[in-house]
Amino acid sequence: MHELYVLLSDEVMARVRDYLRDDREFLEELYLALAPEPVLEIDDDALELLRDNLALWRRGYAIPLAALEEAKRFVTGNASLRSLQRGFLVMLSSEELEAEPDANYAFAREFCGSVEGEKVLDVASGFGWVPVLLSERAHVYALDSAYKNPIIYEEDRIYIDGTTIELFPGFPEGQAFIRANREKFTCYADFARLFWEKHGANLENITLLQGDASNLSSVRSLDGDSPLTLTEAFDSVTIFFGLNHIGKAWRRVLSEASRVLRRHGKLHVAIYREYLAKFPLKGAYNWAEQLGIEIIPLEELLKEADALGLKAKVKRHSGEKLYHMVEMEKRE
Ligand SMILES: C[S@@+](CC[C@H](N)C(=O)[O-])C[C@H]1O[C@@H](n2cnc3c(N)ncnc32)[C@H](O)[C@@H]1O
Repeated sequence: MHELYVLLSDEVMARVRDYLRDDREFLEELYLALAPEPVLEIDDDALELLRDNLALWRRGYAIPLAALEEAKRFVTGNASLRSLQRGFLVMLSSEELEAEPDANYAFAREFCGSVEGEKVLDVASGFGWVPVLLSERAHVYALDSAYKNPIIYEEDRIYIDGTTIELFPGFPEGQAFIRANREKFTCYADFARLFWEKHGANLENITLLQGDASNLSSVRSLDGDSPLTLTEAFDSVTIFFGLNHIGKAWRRVLSEASRVLRRHGKLHVAIYREYLAKFPLKGAYNWAEQLGIEIIPLEELLKEADALGLKAKVKRHSGEKLYHMVEMEKRE
């Protein structure tokens, strides 16, 4: 069953806060009411989790509709939310939240659909879908600041040193494969190539670049580890959620991306919607904090684009509830 989460206006939240108590009696009642199956014994850990969530809901994070109904029923005797509905700002289902936009093939496909040209720079490329989808028809320069970082093999997990990126979490077959071939998979770039190859990318059309996106004048190609000067020659630059991952330097990255575009070349950007920071994406409310995600207001992105002389267009797309897709054309 899919849950619905609702984000409330400040005004309605002020009323609802009184319903969200955290005494043991209330917690137990709410826990029993929300349990999907009959409960024989109350689990203290689950109760603590519920207490933590209640603290977040009181701070204005999105609340499961069912919890809101039950809480209102306990306090007022009436579960109807009709009187609160005008304060429902955004409603998202657990199914929508499971879509994880940055790792979603269908979203990446749609994003790539409007990318034109033969020479594309994909910024903060990681091991994403963009090089897979574009290498069919363009030469993709995939840039990441961590491609040379070693893969760390620990007993219970494999990850990229210096990042939050785990390889094959919850996929033991994948882990077993890469462990068995660990002499071939020593750094992040090796893993990216493996991912792309397994998903049908044309590797001949992908050049991996090691570099910081906020300084594109100092980039190295991983083919032969040679310095590469990125001139104003790209038909398109793509940044699929990379700005969110790069954090505070996003303005500088936008300016660098714009610099290396040819005249009338286009910068394609996907960023999370601001309110997503208040929803439990990737299984947790604090996903943005855990992953070091910077939430970028659309208005600020558009203002920055304008200051850089880019003509921006916010595009319609199928994941609009979760993220923005913006196309920016270099005018001069
Ligand atoms: C979630 S990942 C990959 C996003 C990717 N576009 C996708 O479609 O999956 C974000 C990547 O940004 C990279 N990154 C973070 N800061 C960066 C920077 N300053 N310059 C280049 N890459 C950066 C990280 O190493 C990581 O691989």
